Amino acid sequence: FKLTSVDEFEAATARLLETGAKVGADSWQMRVKNQSPHCKFGETGVCCRICAMGPCRITPKAPKGICGCDVHGIVGRNYLKFTAGGAATHSDHGREICHTLYLSAEDGNYKVKDPEKLKRIAKEWGVETEGKDIYDLAHEMAELALLEYGKPFGNQRWLKRAPQTTQDIWEREGIAPRAIDREVSTSLHMSHMGCSSKPEALIRQSLRAGLADGWGGSMCGTEFSDVLFGTPKPVDTEANLGVMNAENVNIIVHGHDPSLSEMICEYADDPEMIAYAKSFGAKGITVSGVCCTSNEVAMRRGIPMAGNFLQQENVVLTGACEAIVVDVQCIFPALGPLSKCFHTKFITTSPIAQMPDSEFIEFHAENAGENAKSIVKLACENFVNRNKDLVYIPDMKQKATVGYSVEAIVKVLDGVTNSQVDETGTTKPLLECITSGVIRGAVAMVGCNNPKIRPDHAHIELMKKLIANDIVVIASGCAAQAAAKAGLMDKQAKDLCGAGLKRVCELADIPPVLHMGSCVDISRMMILAATLAKDSGLKISQLPVVGCAPEWMSEKAVSIGNYVVATGIDTFLGVDPYVSGSSEVADLLTNGVREWVEAAYTVEKDIDKLVDSMIDRIEEKRAAIGI
Ligand code: SF4
Ligand code: FE2
Repeated sequence: FKLTSVDEFEAATARLLETGAKVGADSWQMRVKNQSPHCKFGETGVCCRICAMGPCRITPKAPKGICGCDVHGIVGRNYLKFTAGGAATHSDHGREICHTLYLSAEDGNYKVKDPEKLKRIAKEWGVETEGKDIYDLAHEMAELALLEYGKPFGNQRWLKRAPQTTQDIWEREGIAPRAIDREVSTSLHMSHMGCSSKPEALIRQSLRAGLADGWGGSMCGTEFSDVLFGTPKPVDTEANLGVMNAENVNIIVHGHDPSLSEMICEYADDPEMIAYAKSFGAKGITVSGVCCTSNEVAMRRGIPMAGNFLQQENVVLTGACEAIVVDVQCIFPALGPLSKCFHTKFITTSPIAQMPDSEFIEFHAENAGENAKSIVKLACENFVNRNKDLVYIPDMKQKATVGYSVEAIVKVLDGVTNSQVDETGTTKPLLECITSGVIRGAVAMVGCNNPKIRPDHAHIELMKKLIANDIVVIASGCAAQAAAKAGLMDKQAKDLCGAGLKRVCELADIPPVLHMGSCVDISRMMILAATLAKDSGLKISQLPVVGCAPEWMSEKAVSIGNYVVATGIDTFLGVDPYVSGSSEVADLLTNGVREWVEAAYTVEKDIDKLVDSMIDRIEEKRAAIGI
C-alpha cells in the first residue's frame, strides 16, 4: 500500500495542461498568474463599495470612508456579507431538497428511501406518525421544514439537538437563529450603508447567520437528502482522475445538489442506456463526480470521485469527457469556453447557476427522470465526436471506503465495544477510545481548494500527521476528496496511524479518515459533536475536537466556520477571511468570540504550525478534563 503524492497529482495535471495548450485552452493556473499579485485592499478587507458615494479604501492617509465608517466597520460589514452569502447558499440548497421531498411520491421521480429516518425526525418535531402514509408524512414534514425558512416567531427546530449547555449559550449571547431567511436578510440589512459599523454587533450576527446555516438550512439539506436518497453506510469506491474510463462514455456530475446526480446515476445504470452507449462504439457508461455532488453519490452509491474543486478543468482536459453536468455552486464559468476546445458538452441544469457556453437543460423534480435520460442520451451520442488524439486519462486512482454518516459511525464503532464498553448504539465506544487515550481526539477537516495553498497538499499533510498522532479525522467536501485521492480513505492507511488509532481501525474495520459527506454534511459533524457531548456529560467546547479548513475559498466556508465556532469548536484556517485589515475584527474572531461561545478561530498559513497548534489544542482540552 502506498499513498499517491501531491507531486504525482501535479505531474498528471502538468501532462493534462499540455493537452490544454495544444487546443488553446485557458486554465486556472494561467489565470492565477494574471491575477497576481492580488489587490491588497481587497485582500485585507478594507475596500468598501456598499454605497455609491464610494468605493472607499482605507489607507493611513484616508482612515475613514466618506460616511465616516472606520476600517473596523468596513471589514466587519464585509465579513458579515460574506457570511450571509454562504448561509444563503447552503440553506437554499437545503430548501431545494425540502421541495424535492414535498414532491416525492410512490410512483414519482423521487421516493422516500429511508422512511425510518423520516419518522425519527417527525417524532423529534412532535409530528404524529402513527397510521400515516409515508408520503403524507413526507409532505407534511417538507412543509414544516420549508416554514423554518420564513417562520415569523421562534428559533430553528434543529437547535434542540444541541446539548442544553450549548442552547443556553446561544440564548444568552442572542445568537440562537430565527427563521433562516430572516438571518440572511438581517445580515444584509445590518451591513447596508448606514446601519451597523460596530464590530461586536457585526460579528455576533455573523455567528447567528452561520448557525442558521449549520443548525438550519444545511441540516435540512443533509437530513432530508438522507430521507430521500438513503442514509449513507460504508461503501467502497475509488478516487482520482483514473476512475474515468477511456473506453466508456464518461459523464461527470459536478456541483452540490444530489437531486440531479441521483437521477443521472439511475439512468446511466439502465440497461437500455448502456445498450445505447454501445451502439456508438463505447463499452459502457462511467459516471464519476467532482466536488460535493460527487461526495453525495459516492456516499450513497459508491460512484467514483474523479476529483475535487481545482480538478474540475482536468476532467475536461482528459479529452474523454462526453458531458459535464452541473447543478449549483463551485462550478467554474471557465468550463464553458474550455468545453468548446473539446467535444465535451457542458450542461447546466439549474436556473440558479446559468453560464455562457453551456447547454441549459432545466431540471426540476417533475421532469427529473425525463431530463436525466435525455442528458445521458446526449452524452452517449457525443462519444463519436471524441478526438482520440487528445484523449489522455492519468492512470491514477486509489481505493476508498466512504459513507460514514453519524448513524454509520455509531454502528461500526459498536464493533469495538465488546472489548471496551457494553453499551451499543451510542457514541460511548468512541468516547471510551478517547478517554482511554487510544484515540487522542478528532479533527473535522473540511473545505475547498484554493490556489493560494498548494492544492491538496495542506489537506493531505495535515491528515497524515494527525492520524500518526492517533487523532481520527472526519472529513467532508473537497478535503474528503483530497484524502480519498491520496489513499487516506483506504482501510490500508491504518498503517500510517499511531498504534492506538491503528488498533481502532482494525477492530472497527474503518479507514483512519472517515468520509462524512458533502459541505452541507458538516451538519453531521455538529450532530456527532452534540451526541458526544450528551453521552459524555461534557460541554462541546470541552471535547478534544477541533475543526480545520486549510484550503478553503468560498463564502459558504466562512458561514461554516462561524457555526462550527459558535457551536463551541475551535476552528483552524489556512487562508485569511479578508479581515487582516482590522485589528479589532481579527481580534474578535481569534479571541473575543471565545468569551461568547467558548471557541474561536486560529488563522495560520504555515502548515506545520497549523497542525502542531491543533494537536496542542487537543492535548490542552484533554488535560483540562483530566484525561
Ligand atoms: Fe464609502 Fe461609507 Fe459608502 Fe462604504 S458605505 S462606500 S465607506 S461612503
Ligand atoms: Fe461543497
